[in-house]
Amino acid sequence: MGKRVFTNCLAATMVGGDDGYGLIVDAAIAVSDGRIGWVGAHADLPEDYADWPHQGLDGALVTPALIDCHTHLVFGGDRSQEFALRLNGASYEEIARAGGGIRSTVGATRAASDGELLTAALPRVDDLLADGVAVIEVKSGYGLTVADEMRMLRVARQIEQHRPVRVRTTWLAAHAIPEEFEGEADRYIDEVAIPGLEQAADEGLVDAVDGFCEGIGFTPAQIRRVFEKAKALGLPVKLHAEQLSDLKGAVLAAEYGALSADHLEYLDPQDVPAMAASGTVAVMLPGAFYALRETKMPPFDALSEHGVPMAVATDCNPGSSPLPSLRLAMNMACTLFRMTPQEALTGTTLNAAKALGLGDEYGTIETGKRAELAVWNAPHPNYLSYWIGGQLLRGRISGDTFV
Ligand code: NIG
Ligand code: FE
Repeated sequence: MGKRVFTNCLAATMVGGDDGYGLIVDAAIAVSDGRIGWVGAHADLPEDYADWPHQGLDGALVTPALIDCHTHLVFGGDRSQEFALRLNGASYEEIARAGGGIRSTVGATRAASDGELLTAALPRVDDLLADGVAVIEVKSGYGLTVADEMRMLRVARQIEQHRPVRVRTTWLAAHAIPEEFEGEADRYIDEVAIPGLEQAADEGLVDAVDGFCEGIGFTPAQIRRVFEKAKALGLPVKLHAEQLSDLKGAVLAAEYGALSADHLEYLDPQDVPAMAASGTVAVMLPGAFYALRETKMPPFDALSEHGVPMAVATDCNPGSSPLPSLRLAMNMACTLFRMTPQEALTGTTLNAAKALGLGDEYGTIETGKRAELAVWNAPHPNYLSYWIGGQLLRGRISGDTFV
């Protein structure tokens, strides 16, 4: 990888500045060997860079490439039927308890070959790429056997061979209780979730460990056992917490120093200090809030007051959030959760990187970080959240190449 200086751009570095965007007008960004070597006002560019190749960006807005830190985008089948059922009054939980929901996707995922799972996932990845995304997290959780959960993570990793995107994989075997373990959640944890995690970690397939702590998922005691195994293996944890009810999942996650606690609509404001103390990122998933027509908002004010970093993600999945657009998730975070556009962009860059344990490498335009940037047809970073849908991406910078 070579060297290049990108010039004539408005850089939203996401570092400092009164507006939180760290805006630099008429910026220059010097890149070498895939990393950012220098960023600042073009007028201040040191002499040493004078003979490097320069490329002007016509005054375009440049931000760190976006990061989708919570997806379930490898899955078989679809659940458009359930969408119709919900519109006729059935609730997400009722559908799940009647054998639909996650279990129906499990059937379709088990029946699909690896090739079919990959072929189905790539268009979802393409949609995210078109939104300037360079890093995605992908969870297992629709296989629910050791072999099928591992298969999901292998397919997720294969995405990197087919698309210019970095993939982080999360073990989510504690997502639902499969039919063959009906009424035996503990036995499922003992026979699938825990030993499977050990095997998947052995194969190097796991970057983090997640669970669904919920009435229709797993109890805190069951999640704790999975987390103990994660801890023994030296793997970071995260948790689907307080999405439909308050089981104190976020407090449990904080106890294990979780990277993130996600959803959080039913989080008790009193539990926020525990998250703040552990540095756990609150991941807002407005797509699920919107699709399930939820009305209870995450305790946004308490999270802000205690300085809990907030991320925004798509939760792209076939049931509760069929949403492969991170920019639309940002718009929803503003409109539905009253986040500011600046908080939404921080939530898909800096804080999303933190939620994946990648804070040292991604999420800001700073010396030493990876040169993964998004170049936009937009006059100001507010525009990325304000404009609903559409194609705003002009191109991506990856290392010294602008494509
Ligand atoms: O994040 N809440 C659990 N998991 C997913 C939904 C998965 C599904 O419905 O297929 C979520 O919303
Ligand atoms: Fe999810």
